[in-house]
Amino acid sequence: YRDRRLVIASNRGPLTLRDSGSKGLEITPSVSGLVSALNPIIDQEGGAWVGWGGRLGKPDEIMGKTLPLTDRNDAFFHEVILTEEEVEAFYEGISNSCLWPLCHNFVEKALFDAEQWQNYRSVNIKYAQTLLQKSQPRDLIWIHDYHLALVPTSIRLERPQAQISLFWHIPFPAPEIFATLPWARELLKGLLDCNLIAFHTESYVRNFLITAEELLGAKVDHVTGSIFWAGRKIIVAAYPIGIDWRDFESLASKPEIRQKAHQLKQASGGDYLILGVDRLDYTKGIPERLKAIEWLFENHPEYKRKITFIQIAVPSRTQVKAYQSLRREVEETVGRINGRFTEDHIPVRYLFRPLRKDHLVTHYLAADMCLVTPLRDGLNLVAKEYVATNGNYSGTLLLSPFAGAANQLKEALQANPYSPQETAEQILKGLLMAEGEKKRRLHSLYKSVKEQDISWWWKRIKQAWLTGSTITVSPK
Ligand code: UDP
Ligand code: G6P
Repeated sequence: YRDRRLVIASNRGPLTLRDSGSKGLEITPSVSGLVSALNPIIDQEGGAWVGWGGRLGKPDEIMGKTLPLTDRNDAFFHEVILTEEEVEAFYEGISNSCLWPLCHNFVEKALFDAEQWQNYRSVNIKYAQTLLQKSQPRDLIWIHDYHLALVPTSIRLERPQAQISLFWHIPFPAPEIFATLPWARELLKGLLDCNLIAFHTESYVRNFLITAEELLGAKVDHVTGSIFWAGRKIIVAAYPIGIDWRDFESLASKPEIRQKAHQLKQASGGDYLILGVDRLDYTKGIPERLKAIEWLFENHPEYKRKITFIQIAVPSRTQVKAYQSLRREVEETVGRINGRFTEDHIPVRYLFRPLRKDHLVTHYLAADMCLVTPLRDGLNLVAKEYVATNGNYSGTLLLSPFAGAANQLKEALQANPYSPQETAEQILKGLLMAEGEKKRRLHSLYKSVKEQDISWWWKRIKQAWLTGSTITVSPK
């Protein structure tokens, strides 16, 4: 396939651009699991990446900057500009106040607005046109996530023979939940214009196959994961994203980072440092996690001096109401817990900002335990990154069964995030666990993170895409 270039499209591009007056254009890496996963692939393969850089413009300013993504100058980011109306209707509206909550089973949060849906359609056409402009007929068109579900249709119309795949990074809900979307059929048909549709878990694949069968009457082969639609065969498969673990392992072995991690642990003042790292999103279970910490201090007051819990919350979708009220709730809860349990030591620290990768790794390294306790999460890369950072040292992962990653990270401690008591008890179990047991669990987790890493993921997707079959030829 060497003569076919990889052309990626995702709503959020790899770089975020900001016009900051006198300082000129500020360019920073975007924070998301999607971007973390695709960066090493575009770095290896070269190609193009079409995506929004966070800037607003007038309706005629569709394209912004083109920026190199590698030193070799063989991969470029083509910045898409959105208008204010598009940001409100397409991004904050349908994408993040309708599809996001619906797919994460927060049905009561999903808002259905027909005018916004019109806008979602037109922004999808805009992305498709940009993709067509930036690619050649034989290129591999790789579309990402729920923002761009209708893009395959516009590409297929223009190029009937195109190779199109879409990776859906979030959960795919049960058919009766998806069916509440007034435009469910249109969205499904959009996806079925792909050659390959991939999800993180078998259960999302199952939900998708049944939904296509029930809502569209499509012919489905559940054994091979194929859908027959409009005279074509579409492959649907589960490929959980992996990480570039070598990067984390190598940062974790750097003396200056180890030194900083040691200092961070010392400065926290307690015996145990516990960490949470998430975008500030209601799917991540942050208030619930804080309530588990509160339960622990209430019921085991001897730990209020021994534990420091650091929550890193990356600002996200700050114009959306549900995110604004979540922020208030989290800040109030942190205030309440510290008010109740601070003596000579502040038990909860809360940072509302993103961390640079080396700082993030410093935190992963310093933490005795990482709490990844979402109410629902497509996969969750933080869990894998924590394991990769500490794999050669020590650390305990507490993982929600409702994160896609729980299908792979079987030796993590688990707790139902909706139960503060169960979560608190599992935290204590992790802190008090015998060293041998801790090591055994960590090694098993590390092994799976290394085996099913980012190149494993890309290799499998490429194979299914190019052969039209999910049957694996070589085991790894
Ligand atoms: N991340 C980061 N800086 C931070 C916090 C997180 O770069 O301060 C990255 C983290 O390394 C991970 C990604 O953001 O790769 C979050 O991915 P995840 O799958 O956990 O969740 P998402 O945000 O995609 O829902
Ligand atoms: C999740 C989604 C991504 C999205 C990211 C950050 O990981 O799957 O598509 O880019 O969150 O959200 P944002 O709204 O900032 O793009």
